[in-house]
Amino acid sequence: MRSLGYLNKYFIKYKWRFFLGILFTVVSNYFGSRMPVIVMDAVNGMKHELYASTLESSLILALKIGGVYMLFSLIKGFFLFLMRQTIIIMSRLIEYDLKNEVFAQYQRMGFAFYQRNRIGDLMNRISEDVSQVRSYLGPGIMYTINLVVMFALCIYQMVKISPMLTLYVLIPLPLMSFMIYKVSSKMNALSKNVQAEQSMMSTIVQESFSGIRLIKAYNRAEEMNDKFTLSAEGYHKKTMRLVVVNALFMPTIFFLIGLSTILAIYIGGKMTYTGELSIGGIVAFIFFVNNLTWPFASIGWVTSIIQRASASQERINEFLNQPAEIINPSLSAFNFQGKIEFKNVRYTYADSNITAIKDLSFTINKGETLAFVGKTGSGKSTILRLILRQVDPEVGEIYVDGAALNTINIDAFRDQSGIVPQEITLFSDSIANNISFGAHSEDITHERIVDMAKLAHVDHNIQEFPERYETLLGERGVNLSGGQKQRLSIARALVREPKLLLLDDCFSALDSETEEIILSNLKKVQKNRSTIIVSHRISSLRNADRIIVLDHGQLAEQGSHDELIALNGIYAEMYTAQLAESKEK
Ligand SMILES: Nc1ncnc2c1ncn2[C@@H]1O[C@H](COP(=O)(O)OP(=O)(O)O)[C@@H](O)[C@H]1O
Ligand SMILES: [Mg+2]
Repeated sequence: MRSLGYLNKYFIKYKWRFFLGILFTVVSNYFGSRMPVIVMDAVNGMKHELYASTLESSLILALKIGGVYMLFSLIKGFFLFLMRQTIIIMSRLIEYDLKNEVFAQYQRMGFAFYQRNRIGDLMNRISEDVSQVRSYLGPGIMYTINLVVMFALCIYQMVKISPMLTLYVLIPLPLMSFMIYKVSSKMNALSKNVQAEQSMMSTIVQESFSGIRLIKAYNRAEEMNDKFTLSAEGYHKKTMRLVVVNALFMPTIFFLIGLSTILAIYIGGKMTYTGELSIGGIVAFIFFVNNLTWPFASIGWVTSIIQRASASQERINEFLNQPAEIINPSLSAFNFQGKIEFKNVRYTYADSNITAIKDLSFTINKGETLAFVGKTGSGKSTILRLILRQVDPEVGEIYVDGAALNTINIDAFRDQSGIVPQEITLFSDSIANNISFGAHSEDITHERIVDMAKLAHVDHNIQEFPERYETLLGERGVNLSGGQKQRLSIARALVREPKLLLLDDCFSALDSETEEIILSNLKKVQKNRSTIIVSHRISSLRNADRIIVLDHGQLAEQGSHDELIALNGIYAEMYTAQLAESKEK
């Protein structure tokens, strides 16, 4: 329950709607609670009229009372409408705010966060869990207020008619409260299970979408089906248990309400003999008891809504309360000159406990091209993560232009760098927009996009698509080849005019001729740009100013291509092997 306290700030934000909602509830229920009294007066009046006067005058009375009853119904209904309009709308507004807040938090979180959490869970937080919370904010709150107000007003009217009978009729209520409490805690436990299973199911669905090509290629659709069916079965079973408890709930309430009705008739009947109560009074009590049926029955439902919502909000809070691992330490301007220095850097991945970088030191100066070569898993991509401060070193220091990386304005630094990651992400958008994603301002000219695509040697491919740069990529669009994706991604980085260009194995899907063309294009526009090339292919980096050979996260050899060949170590061995391989082709 405490977790829902987080939402109080939103109640304050929408306090006027909330307040009006309560006001409308009171007005609506006031008229509602007067209606049984009208019936009482009608019954008593008719009885009197029937004995005392003509049929005509009793008809007029009936019409009059009927008219008043109708009017009250209309007013009650109108304010009920307004109550929904204020409170339900408030809940939608808060839902909107909360979704935005959760999404903004997702954007804030760093690399480690996304390693810890499954995408299915993250998706569920922002859709399923927020919906649960909204049910609390809307129906949950509305029915609770309604119950309290209706209960108070009805009791007031009932006591006015007969305090004794009110007491008798209310006897089953504490019993009801107890049962509701029992049943709802059971429901709470069960619905937690249901939600956990739901997260699981989302993850399976999500993975099956992202991996659909692989699933088809490996012919694993059956197995995926089975996996999903198993999880859906778990969900079904858990839900059924919840349904049984839910189903027992209403009959119990109706039984207890029935008990109250019988008490009203039996005891009320006896009281009419002694003249303590009018016949109309009995009728009014039956109406009151029935009026209270739904609100009381809704207690169980509302309790389960609130409990589910509090479980959901707890999970949302868990995310919202996580500080971003890496916070920008400075907002002052930072103008990158081009020098990066690693000093005895060590980094271990927390989840795999793999020390990817060990005691690594190197320097890259302004305008230089530094290359890293090494087997897969030797730590090349990790170095780039460290430079962009997606992760912080465990030991050692990284300096940028002589300042410690963890003290400078990291956003500004990232703005001045462009990375072509090993795993390429394309958005479901046009080619032009995918390239201009890297640009700093929205109003980048089409010409510039084309120029960069030419540099990345992908323009001629794009021209072949019927819609050229407006061709849609992604799920419902065109699929690019691995090499085309890599070149598009290079164009995206170049559009940024980065002072630091990071290329993570981004020629791997290209033939050596294309690679050659792009590398020489890059050289042309290099100006004072520092470049880091990561590759496991020597051809991509033989022209670099300096080459570092990585072995299990450690610097094994260092020097220019010629120096390393002369050294006759790992590099020379790799070179000969790759040369032989390319000759075979
Ligand atoms: N996200 C990660 N979580 C855990 N371990 C990782 C992660 N990324 C890489 N590693 C491990 O760190 C080592 C270095 O990986 P990486 O820097 O990607 O190497 P490279 O780019 O040279 O192939 C590998 O052993 C790899 O298994
Ligand atoms: Mg890598």
